[in-house]
Amino acid sequence: MRFGVLTGGGDCPGLNPAIRAVVDRAAREGHETVGFRDGWKGVRDGLTRPLSVDDVHDLIGRGGTILGSSRTNPFAKPEDAEKVVRTLAHERIDALVAIGGDDTLTAARELARRGGKVVGVPKTMDNDVAGTDWTFGFHSATAVAVDALERLRDTAGSHHRAIVLEVMGRHAGWVALATGLAGGADATLVPEEPYDEAELFRRVRAAVAARGHALVVASEGIDLGQRKGSTGAKDEFGHELLREREVGAELAERIQAATGVETRSAQIGHIQRGGAPELFDRILATRLGAHAVELALAGRFGEVAVLRGERVVGIPLDEAIGTSKTVTPDWLALLHTFEP
Ligand code: F6P
Repeated sequence: MRFGVLTGGGDCPGLNPAIRAVVDRAAREGHETVGFRDGWKGVRDGLTRPLSVDDVHDLIGRGGTILGSSRTNPFAKPEDAEKVVRTLAHERIDALVAIGGDDTLTAARELARRGGKVVGVPKTMDNDVAGTDWTFGFHSATAVAVDALERLRDTAGSHHRAIVLEVMGRHAGWVALATGLAGGADATLVPEEPYDEAELFRRVRAAVAARGHALVVASEGIDLGQRKGSTGAKDEFGHELLREREVGAELAERIQAATGVETRSAQIGHIQRGGAPELFDRILATRLGAHAVELALAGRFGEVAVLRGERVVGIPLDEAIGTSKTVTPDWLALLHTFEP
């Protein structure tokens, strides 16, 4: 067989190990793999690169994606959809492995509905893909955010300040939740809970009274009822560019004005997406990439490899996408247990 592989959407640590797993697993069964550049754009426009086992061997610990990525929606226009079909025929692709988040996998499902031989691998630092327990990228990216929070603790303590750390995650609060829990924040704000200003100020005051400083983690997706800084710009899948709203900076101003505590903010943005994948992400990406090849070899097109408990299994793309997996009340209860 001739496999194709692409990585679409926002990059995250783990993509390269997943590519490596696909190429290696396919090669060991006697199959070759070609890479499509820049996500679905590469399939639409016929942008490829050969991928040998030697090309990918050293990718296990490398961040980003050697294939490049984009947020191209190949089914936005009928003529683009035709180009996708033409490229796959021209490249003689027997099985396409689409590695991506909800948008990339939604395009994969569309291709499958049109008879395309495609399987999926979920990834995203946001951890918001519904069909899988965890996505790779999340652990590595959140470890960066926790490291940032710990650095902020040092300087907040020295200057007796409050500091707000704004993290990514889109409309799911997983990154903020895990950063707040693992980094010991005094208040963590996630999109799943309505913004409670009085409670935020109370927590900041309590933390400052107890220790002289306060740390707040804010997810970029929270709704403060303001659109400061936002141009309303959207990507090809219609998602607003949330970091432009600068909710962390806005919160810092409000906290300082209300509590009198000198307050700063930090937005770490794409720093979270770079760097070597951590242990968990390397292993998960490797397992999912290998399993995607197995799904294709078994003719189980239209499925996606996911993590369920300890096991990696294939489920229909339909079941994995469409709804975003958001933070559940039990996690929120645990989070608030440790706040002042
Ligand atoms: O989906 C991953 C993510 O990092 C989100 O957390 C963030 O909102 C978005 O991508 C940023 O997108 P871009 O890289 O296009 O600025």
